[in-house]
Amino acid sequence: MSLNMLSIQSDVAVTLLLACGLLVMALQFTGSASKTNVPILANDVFFGYKTAMKTLSSFTKLMIEGQARSIALEYTVGREVAYNPWHTSVIRKQMTQNLGTKFPEIYEEIVAAFQDELVLPDSGEWMPINAYSVILHVVCRASNRLFVGLPLCRDKEFTKISRDFTITVTRAGFLISCFPRFLRPLVARYISAAPRATREFGNYMVPVIEQRLRSEMELGDAWKEQKPIQFDFLQWMMDEAGEDRRDPKDLNQRMLGMNFTATHTSSMSFTHAFYWLAACPQYVPELRREVDEVVKTHGWTKDAINSMFKIDSFIKEAMRLTGLSASSMQRKSMKRLTLSDGTVVPAGGHVAINAWSVHHDPHLYPNPLEFDPFRFSRKVEEGDSVVKSAFTTASSDFLFWGGGSHVWISPGRYFASQELKAMLAYIVKNYDVKMPNNGVRPTDIWFAHTCVPDPKATVLFRKRVT
Ligand code: HEM
Repeated sequence: MSLNMLSIQSDVAVTLLLACGLLVMALQFTGSASKTNVPILANDVFFGYKTAMKTLSSFTKLMIEGQARSIALEYTVGREVAYNPWHTSVIRKQMTQNLGTKFPEIYEEIVAAFQDELVLPDSGEWMPINAYSVILHVVCRASNRLFVGLPLCRDKEFTKISRDFTITVTRAGFLISCFPRFLRPLVARYISAAPRATREFGNYMVPVIEQRLRSEMELGDAWKEQKPIQFDFLQWMMDEAGEDRRDPKDLNQRMLGMNFTATHTSSMSFTHAFYWLAACPQYVPELRREVDEVVKTHGWTKDAINSMFKIDSFIKEAMRLTGLSASSMQRKSMKRLTLSDGTVVPAGGHVAINAWSVHHDPHLYPNPLEFDPFRFSRKVEEGDSVVKSAFTTASSDFLFWGGGSHVWISPGRYFASQELKAMLAYIVKNYDVKMPNNGVRPTDIWFAHTCVPDPKATVLFRKRVT
């Protein structure tokens, strides 16, 4: 087959893929399209839904293309990780299935990290604290407790590399994408900080991987019996990799990629929610009552976290009103397309769903500009479905986790939600918080469509006295 034919075929495949993608989006969004004026490709099922889903399972190229300009993923988190993210299935399966068993460890890490980061006097005096820094440290430790366990998750240098990596990737990605395509590998290699960060991370991670591989070789079946059944993400990934995908450097790159994906999304989201708490301490007693009651019944367990509807609602409302991004599902069109309302998307055009208008639509959310923390738990109390109102549920009305087919929705959302809820519950149970001078919530900072909570804001903390 000639190269020309191959490229035409791949063009056709990609066009088909994009068309299917938009079709599925259209199908998913048909219900809310009229409310939010989202143009759609079609509202008739002319491919079978299942066929569209199957085609979409190879959506990776589209996504990489869609993100390439902003973060040059293949040069920062690595080509193999970007184009062959097989570890995502480990997030969906082993990691999500083991969240209940691993919860005690994650909770233990959250408690230990808060205690290390928030040194407060017993006198009950208010202390001004840079909240974002505390939150970033706690999230990084809690996530790495699940990813690689003790003692690495507490290692100061290792966690620093992990915390800094998102900034490294974002800066390097921006720099690399300013250059023409043929120069990018060179820029990536010699100018960007990503390779150094990867090496430094590997100085910690590779020896752990090699040690585990050695143990497996030397001990054989005894190793299988010796290692805990529910180990950590690294081990689940190594088990899933089988013989041929166990290059320590590649596994290191994937672990770093996981840190990139998990740490900053979760810490920025939590900071958004936390600023609402500090600006509106009047909601604390109701949250505390819920946490006290639920923990009395279930202890600090996954069941307890699942039963905290008000905590869940508080975080979801914060994400609705001041989420991380005004858009969702950013993609790049590989071919010229005409949408249902006549809008033409040129080849190479970047498209996204306007999540902001959906999340602030008065038809979907009455008084949409008001922070109403119990908006969703009230619905549950009124008899609405728990699942429909849950923070983890992605839908055409709640695009925080992405949307459309399941392959486009964050596979880390169950872990992230559990982590964020446990952190909020721990704070309301153990600390009093407020803004200085009983002030208002810090103003968010916008970078293009990204909504960042002020990382420098100071919040007053004291050990709980009320
Ligand atoms: C509050 C925290 C989080 C938010 C807001 C978030 C949001 C998102 C969104 C919107 C997407 C879809 C991107 C797109 O298709 O356009 C996504 C994808 C993804 N997320 Fe998350 N996420 C969070 C936490 C996590 C965590 C903790 C993990 C891992 C443990 C994770 C792993 C992933 C992965 C691997 C993908 C890519 C999906 C794939 O390649 O199949 N996320 N996330």
